[in-house]
Amino acid sequence: MQHPAAFENLSREDRRFAPTEEFAEAANVTAAAYAEASADNLAFWAKQAERLTWAEPFTQTLDWSTAPFAKWFVGGTLNVAVNCLDRHVAAGLGDRVAYYFEGEPGDTRVITYSQLTDSVCQAANVLTSLGVKAGDRVAIYMPMIPETVIAMLACARLGAIHTVVFGGFSADALKTRILDCDATVVITADGGFRKGSVSPMKPTVDAALLGCPAVRSVLVVNRAGNDVDWMPGRDVWWHESVEAASPVHAAEAFDSEHPLYVMYTSGTTGNPKGILHTSGGYLTGCSFTQWEVFDLKPETDVYWTAADIGWVTGHSYIVYGPLSNATTSVLYEGTPDSPHQGRWWEIVDKYQVTTLYCAPTAIRAFMKWGHETLANYSLESLRLIGSVGEPINPEAYMWYREHVGHNRVPVVDTWWQTETGSIMISPLPGVTHGKPGAAMKALPGIVADVVDDDGVSVPNGTGGYLVITEPWPSMLRTIWGDDQRYVETYWSKFPGTYFAGDGAKRDDDGDIWLLGRVDDVMNVSGHRLSTTEIESALVSNPKVAEAAVVGAADALTGQAVVAFVILRSEAGDGGPHVVHELRMHVANQIGKIAQPRQIMIVAELPKTRSGKIMRRLLRDVAENRPVGDVTTLADTSVMTTIAAGISTGM
Ligand code: WT7
Repeated sequence: MQHPAAFENLSREDRRFAPTEEFAEAANVTAAAYAEASADNLAFWAKQAERLTWAEPFTQTLDWSTAPFAKWFVGGTLNVAVNCLDRHVAAGLGDRVAYYFEGEPGDTRVITYSQLTDSVCQAANVLTSLGVKAGDRVAIYMPMIPETVIAMLACARLGAIHTVVFGGFSADALKTRILDCDATVVITADGGFRKGSVSPMKPTVDAALLGCPAVRSVLVVNRAGNDVDWMPGRDVWWHESVEAASPVHAAEAFDSEHPLYVMYTSGTTGNPKGILHTSGGYLTGCSFTQWEVFDLKPETDVYWTAADIGWVTGHSYIVYGPLSNATTSVLYEGTPDSPHQGRWWEIVDKYQVTTLYCAPTAIRAFMKWGHETLANYSLESLRLIGSVGEPINPEAYMWYREHVGHNRVPVVDTWWQTETGSIMISPLPGVTHGKPGAAMKALPGIVADVVDDDGVSVPNGTGGYLVITEPWPSMLRTIWGDDQRYVETYWSKFPGTYFAGDGAKRDDDGDIWLLGRVDDVMNVSGHRLSTTEIESALVSNPKVAEAAVVGAADALTGQAVVAFVILRSEAGDGGPHVVHELRMHVANQIGKIAQPRQIMIVAELPKTRSGKIMRRLLRDVAENRPVGDVTTLADTSVMTTIAAGISTGM
């Protein structure tokens, strides 16, 4: 574990940005919310849960008697899909737009709440006919299209547990996830569009399913028109089944703690963790925070989370938060530079987007492409912009504020995780005087702290580990199938307290700055990757004897994967073709997102006397820094050998 004190001290930041008076006056949440929550946290959350429509009201807000296994809103029952759809239609909002869908090739669809409700009922009827029942697992491997949302909500409607696997993952990665949660049905598409061409998806599913005998049905959306192999009896076309099914479906209410979904994320060990979220608490968290942090005005806002539904950001702030609040959202299939680098800004102007939520890595890409592109667009519809996924450096924050927000709208830097389910630390846009690069304060109802190695709160001006000291409604309930790993990973470093795995600093005003992971987890373009998982992938190639992976600072992606590899003698010295082969190998094993930026072939790796690889020293090499303290190395000459080998291009 890397001690957070190792992080560079932040330069002093004196800039503050207050909301305009007009914004503050009309804001959904005022400073009183902090006081209200700290007076009685559980009463605060019980009140927020009233945003939802319960079939049976809950009788107890929190049951923490078997901590860290939480039960929220005990005794309550609800249907998540009904909360996202039917109740809005029943309230007369059926004609409100739920999504403006913008496909990458430029095709568009406008989907209202009534239409979405009908489609979800149709899909639920088809899933039922395929034998899906409450509690079953359904894997979803899709491009960013409306059917992805429909598939998720159809599962939720039936009480089936979805696991959405990011479309960039390989067949192997998909297989691991399907097997881990024992999914019996997969929903996919023939392909999606990416950077102007078709990116096939069904072949990846077919390959994954060679190793998943329990999967009996594959529901396939016809999106990209690419040729696909077909397995009669197993494969079912969406347009032939869902679009022909009855739009009438009576939804059952489920227990507040009924599982909603499993989302896999990288941990410190090789196999990904299936983070389990349940119904009432999760939906309360997404719904309340979307309204609170984005100052949501559902009647007039056009809200756009520019993220992929395959990650938690998409689950909470493209699907469950926005729909539960009857929001009109933009759903965009493609990449920011397809077909041109102004695509996002064109979308903002076209749909008059009021709220944009994206990752710092995207902002840094736009910075690189130049702000001149943005000058061709008005962007005057925007009234709030947000950032998520990784620390936002002050330069990127200032650029975002100036060139996207025109120095006029609040910027919210929101910290949270797959595990937390919804935003935890963030400015309140109508209250906080934001600082560039700081997530500022735990939201009302969330109790966060920064502690030292002994779990003691650090004084202002110091760094430590970020922890959350009280349970919260949208918290993960466990790791799928592994309660013990849940307890060990999150609740054992500081017993009774949630350990997030992030370093943080509290500045002189007591505001929180996130400093990055303190474990072997990297953050590349806002995506979480495990060093161990990539090392295992490399070592599974017969040419590799040993591998060490580090996350090195990268101006565009935040961190980049850098691998140090010792080849087996029969593999030779490792020319460019071997490096290429190893990069392809990682793409096949995990996915393109995990491909190392650099692979350095070395003769030895720096290890302590107990055999532990000293990644800190490798990070020094990867970031072109003088190598730090080597005295704990078993062989202190190793670093000289590595440095010499790299400079001679070995
Ligand atoms: C990790 C969680 C939450 C949605 C996307 C990522 C980092 C997230 C911030 C932020 C600094 C951030 C943390 C965290 N992170 N948001 N605003 N400032 N760091 O979800 O894949 O579960 O990753 O992302 O390191 O632990 P995730």
